[in-house]
Amino acid sequence: MRIQVEVNEALQDYVASISLREPEVLKDLRAETSKLPLSLMQISPEQGQFLSLLVKSTGVKKALEIGVFTGYSLIATALALPEGGTVTALDISEEWTAIAREYAARAGVADRIDLRIGDARASLDALLAREGEAGSYDFVFIDADKENYWAYYEAALTLLRPGGLVVVDNVLWHGAVLDPSAQDSETVALRAFNAKVRDDDRVELSVLPVADGLTFALKR
Ligand SMILES: C[S@@+](CC[C@H](N)C(=O)[O-])C[C@H]1O[C@@H](n2cnc3c(N)ncnc32)[C@H](O)[C@@H]1O
Repeated sequence: MRIQVEVNEALQDYVASISLREPEVLKDLRAETSKLPLSLMQISPEQGQFLSLLVKSTGVKKALEIGVFTGYSLIATALALPEGGTVTALDISEEWTAIAREYAARAGVADRIDLRIGDARASLDALLAREGEAGSYDFVFIDADKENYWAYYEAALTLLRPGGLVVVDNVLWHGAVLDPSAQDSETVALRAFNAKVRDDDRVELSVLPVADGLTFALKR
């Protein structure tokens, strides 16, 4: 038997009450995003704060995000960067990223963000083709379409320097990865992704069953 506290809503509220230090601009962004039908795609404020802590504690200067939506994780990352730090951000939606742009400006971090609209695989190919990009990133956050996670992860490993970190969201997919009857394309892709990362000796690995499941892979 392993100790695993059951994280119900009351405990989540307690965790927020003892730890959450959400900037006003991110609170406002959450309120605005909650009006959208797909608002559940947004990471939680606790997760945003954790990303921020990671970025600060590992001294990230050059970051990449794949999957922006309305910008919560992007702005949390940008706010955590040191002076001169940058984050390249990829998303296919003009509509959702317009909100991200607006709130990045309000947060005073628009000049740290290079937002590229288009299919992320094509944007990554363009990045990879640019001289000096491979091996130059400190941090990558993957949170876009699940079917392409392996392609995003491979690109991330090329773009990261040795010792750079890739964080991947939703790897437990609300538990569906364990349900043999779940055969939709996202679940199937996530199962395959998890198994391949497990066997990938190019990285140090940790998977945490928090939020919707997070993978941390440190490039060797
Ligand atoms: C889960 S949301 C990202 C949530 C975001 N990290 C946040 O903190 O709110 C996934 C995003 O991936 C984007 N996306 C889906 N397929 C994509 C693709 N092929 N290329 C680029 N972006 C894609 C969607 O437009 C959506 O904004």
